[in-house]
Amino acid sequence: MSDDYISWPHILYGGDYNPEQWPESVREEDSHLMERANWNIATLPVFGWVSLEPEEGRYTFEWLDHVLDDLANHGVSACLATATASVPAWVDQKYPDILTADDKGARRRHGNRHTFCPTSPNFRRLSTNLARRMAERYKDHPSLMLWHIGNEYGTYCWCENCAAAFRAWLEARYGSLDALNRRWYTSFWGHTYTDWSQIEPPYANGERSIQALQIDWRRFQSDSLLACCAAEAAVLREVTPGVPITTNMMGPFSPLDYHKWAKVLDVVSWDNYPGPDSPPSDIAFNHALMRGLKEGKPFLLMEQSPSQQNWQPYNRLKPPGQLRLQSFQAMAHGADSVMYFQWRRGRGGIEKLHGAVMEHGGTPENRVFKEVAALGAELKALGTQTIGGRVPARVALLFSWENWWALQASSGPSKDLDYLKVCRAFHAALHGLGIQTDILSPDADLSHYDVIVAPLLYMITPEQANRIRQRVKDGASLVATFFSFMVDDCDTVYLEGAPGPLHDVLGIHVEETDAIEGEWNGEIRVTDARTGMDIGEAVRAGLLADRINLRGAETLATYDGIRFYAGEPCATVNAFGNGKGYYLATLPDTYVIRRLLLAICKELDISPPFMDDGFPAGVVESSIRISPDGTELLYLLQHGSPATVVLPRAEYEDILTGDRFSEAVRMKERDVKILRRIGASANPH
Ligand code: GLA
Ligand code: ZN
Repeated sequence: MSDDYISWPHILYGGDYNPEQWPESVREEDSHLMERANWNIATLPVFGWVSLEPEEGRYTFEWLDHVLDDLANHGVSACLATATASVPAWVDQKYPDILTADDKGARRRHGNRHTFCPTSPNFRRLSTNLARRMAERYKDHPSLMLWHIGNEYGTYCWCENCAAAFRAWLEARYGSLDALNRRWYTSFWGHTYTDWSQIEPPYANGERSIQALQIDWRRFQSDSLLACCAAEAAVLREVTPGVPITTNMMGPFSPLDYHKWAKVLDVVSWDNYPGPDSPPSDIAFNHALMRGLKEGKPFLLMEQSPSQQNWQPYNRLKPPGQLRLQSFQAMAHGADSVMYFQWRRGRGGIEKLHGAVMEHGGTPENRVFKEVAALGAELKALGTQTIGGRVPARVALLFSWENWWALQASSGPSKDLDYLKVCRAFHAALHGLGIQTDILSPDADLSHYDVIVAPLLYMITPEQANRIRQRVKDGASLVATFFSFMVDDCDTVYLEGAPGPLHDVLGIHVEETDAIEGEWNGEIRVTDARTGMDIGEAVRAGLLADRINLRGAETLATYDGIRFYAGEPCATVNAFGNGKGYYLATLPDTYVIRRLLLAICKELDISPPFMDDGFPAGVVESSIRISPDGTELLYLLQHGSPATVVLPRAEYEDILTGDRFSEAVRMKERDVKILRRIGASANPH
């Protein structure tokens, strides 16, 4: 199941449903109304453990049978949750080892959700038992479409059980204590361990000076939580081999290495909760990150709020049209579903003010319901046209959770160092140009990419470096930044200094790194038109400034008006094999990033779809997906004020409305168009 992508029968449209909160009469109404809202799938019962197993080994599935049958009768399939996300009170009471400990080692009390000790054998047994029961009971149910394991995994546990399991994990990773001491560089401050039992998790009130320990702890916790998910997945695969499996992820969520997680799942799904002012490019970044987990395969949008959240400082309603726009944005970037949290606002509990399709005392006449139903009708009319479409990209942006952890653990060089922010700046530049980009692990196969952008890739293994080197040798351009390729997987600095194993590709050596306090307090001056800018142009820069020595690279720009190194190179290019290695020694204004990336892309014949000078006519987002039958669909999304988009020369039909366009299309506010080419023309890509 894992290798081929799933051919969904239609765009999955629906979302979280918590029937255990409601009496029979409301549930009956729900199934009718879901049909009216054009839902075809419901995710349930995510938090239903106690309602299915009120005491150990006593199962009460009858109510769920009834709900599933009823939903099926109304055309609503099940994204069946294994119900292990919320541990019942009786479980915690009976097996206190399941209660997690906090980062000072103190046992937490029972409560909330998503909290269970990932190494507790009791949790493993109880959760897999429940998953097995569930699978056995519903394996032949006609509505079983997809498995949803747990929910938003991510709570670390610092209990003694986890500490012991961590030591075993370390033994397996390093083989001997000597090796661990060497790799962790414990000679620092005299931290050499003389017995495995001395190793503790990096408690908040404990060892915080060995960064490799902190990074390994995160690897271990991510792996342990994944082992819980994988244990349930194994049971489901055994009982229902044909049914795809997912768990809902959270985009750039730092506790879990989702690149590893994706390998256990048949399809990636994620929960999109942008803040009211999140720029569309940040949302696009998240979608691309999730799509990259399975190297470009489509994913599912598992949750989004139809209206507002309850956990932002100000929970703004989505204005009319925004839900639709954000839903199509997800599809534009590779989603094959549009799903919500949740169907009906609960009456009590901390989420009762969270948006839902059905308001308190709501009816199908409510604004949100009508928008949801209308969107459902549009998606239904699309049939299978959009499903399975790939987003073709020749640019890869590398993103690594381990690198993120290493940067978070780093003491110096600047408190403003924010990996996500830097990655987003590079992605936003490409996104603003309409240049499609995959966000991939440095372990991914890069052979199909012509431009490899590696912002702030401080941690890199020799194997990853080799793969990049090979690709550049074969003709790709690498775009690297300051503070990169400095340490190995244990956060140990490469002996030769940065850029470590890629110094030959970049043709430079970093001598020292300066921190620039305040935003944009540096300036750089362009000295070479290969930057895509005019020679002599001066622009702002900031964050960090590497002082570099050229070892074969040529200078593209120099520092200007910065401390004592004005005139020294800050942007370089190096010819390597058939390709090139670019280095940005400081973080320039997005404008420069955009210019430079555009110039690099154009040189490799990667052109933005709509613009001659490299900048879009309006605040329009574009994305192309190619369906399995080869049909190219051009998504246009209007996030700003109305604008006219000049189209690549051809005839187009909007598959949402049947309207035809050539040359230009007028986009209203929050407009969405999905254009299919009907006349031939040169492919812009
Ligand atoms: C997450 C959870 C849901 C719900 C929403 C609220 O995505 O998975 O159960 O709590 O947040 O925004
Ligand atoms: Zn634990």
